[in-house]
Amino acid sequence: MKIRAHLFFLVFAALLPILLFSVALTALFWHEQYSTGVSQGAIEQSLWDVALVVAAGGTAALFLSITLAWVLGKRITRAVSGLAGVARGLATAQPAPPVPTANVAEINETADAFGETRKQLQACERQLRESEEKFRTLTTHAPVGIFLSDLKGDYYFVNRNWCAVSRMTVEQARGTGWQRALHPEDRDRVIAEWRAALQQGLPFSSEFRFLQPNGTVTWLQGSAAELRNSHDTVVGYIGTISNITGLKRAEEAMRLSEEKLRRQAQELEQQLIASGRLVSLGEVTASMAHEFNNPLGIVMGFAQDMLSETDPSSQHYQSLKIIDEETRRCQKIIQELLEFARPKNTDLGRTDIKQIIEKTLTLVSNHLYKQKIEATSVVDSNLPHIYADVQQLEQVLVNLYLNAIDAMPIGGGLKVEAKRQSADTSGAMIVISITDTGFGIDDKDLPKIFLPFFSARKRKGLGLGLPICERIIKNHGGRIEVESRSGKGSTFRIFLPLDHRPERLPETDTRPE
Ligand SMILES: Nc1ncnc2c1ncn2[C@@H]1O[C@H](COP(=O)(O)OP(=O)(O)OP(=O)(O)O)[C@@H](O)[C@H]1O
Ligand SMILES: [Mg+2]
Repeated sequence: MKIRAHLFFLVFAALLPILLFSVALTALFWHEQYSTGVSQGAIEQSLWDVALVVAAGGTAALFLSITLAWVLGKRITRAVSGLAGVARGLATAQPAPPVPTANVAEINETADAFGETRKQLQACERQLRESEEKFRTLTTHAPVGIFLSDLKGDYYFVNRNWCAVSRMTVEQARGTGWQRALHPEDRDRVIAEWRAALQQGLPFSSEFRFLQPNGTVTWLQGSAAELRNSHDTVVGYIGTISNITGLKRAEEAMRLSEEKLRRQAQELEQQLIASGRLVSLGEVTASMAHEFNNPLGIVMGFAQDMLSETDPSSQHYQSLKIIDEETRRCQKIIQELLEFARPKNTDLGRTDIKQIIEKTLTLVSNHLYKQKIEATSVVDSNLPHIYADVQQLEQVLVNLYLNAIDAMPIGGGLKVEAKRQSADTSGAMIVISITDTGFGIDDKDLPKIFLPFFSARKRKGLGLGLPICERIIKNHGGRIEVESRSGKGSTFRIFLPLDHRPERLPETDTRPE
């Protein structure tokens, strides 16, 4: 039943008895007066009686109405308070009690509508909670840093990865706090880029560094885009930061190796140019060799004649012998120069290093004496023989002695050592060291001294001595190294492998004889 019908029934129930008694009283009064001719006093008396009855009936009717109204009101109140419960449930999202108002249709309908709304709200709320949970899980486990900012660009959320990369807490990152994580060298630039992106409503994208309190620097790729609500209104920004430190390191390593390769290519180019110059020099020398060889041949001829006619005990015999040997060496050097551009095979034979050292020191003894240089040699007593080209080895040692002598213009010491080095990764070796106490080699020159035409002796040297030495030693399967300290002296070390032998020869004993 509707509320309006309830109220109408209530008023009707209260007024109906009074109306009935009033009609009955009026009818009685007229009937008594006109039909019976009863006196007015008797009629009034009767009327009073009737009025009393009417009053009693009215009072009873009124009491009945009030009782009915109370009962009805109670039911309405219960319905309304049930409704209020539903409304409260809606407001607080708590479950509401059922509304016990089977007869109050509007309230029931309203309560039902409320209940339906509440169910829908609860479903929405559940969906919201689920999507919040998904967002939380996603942001917590995402391998990138995530941040949310308002329209001003102030942060109100950062995820776990963001905190790990910056070593800041969520609280510290809030507002403009995140800016403190930026590397001081990148800070102004990134803030300016961030502001520009916000003002122009453009996506933000930049590479920058975070500097952690412990000094760790992390390279990051940051990007952000507008965040819109369901009405497509921009309400803030969502962004990510990805760690690109590894990428940056790889880039840097690549750049360095590129630089190194370029340097090496330049060096190679220089060497090629130098060897080109060497080839040209070889051509020039080839044409000159004939002219040199003739007078040299004459000198050699005379020296040999005189040598054969001189008694070995004569004081000139030794000098003539040296002239003979040196002219031969000159002849050979001319040939070496010619052959430098056209590699020559080494003529390997069993060689006694001790003998070569003694002989070559004798060859330069005059220079040593003139420059007040004291020469010493220390050779292992059981040094094995090796297969080598004796003349080429002599050429190497003489070149090195002459360089050492040049480095000691006011005297000094020259020490030649030879010993066997136990087998390492490159096998057993003989090491010949030539140490001087000269002025040494500048650090900047050290990498260049084996390049053709590098010479610090501007006018005196051609800068071919060491390249020739290196080439000869390489042809013997060995290597040559240098150690030098400017102002203190230098040591050149020649490493010759014990197992280097001509292919046609079987492996033979290389122990000393
Ligand atoms: N023992 C040393 N002490 C100091 N500097 C040295 C020594 N040996 C070599 N050098 C430096 O290395 C440079 C190159 O030596 P290299 O023997 O190739 O040429 P050179 O002696 O200048 O000329 P060349 O040997 O062709 O006459 C020298 O000019 C010198 O500066
Ligand atoms: Mg030299």
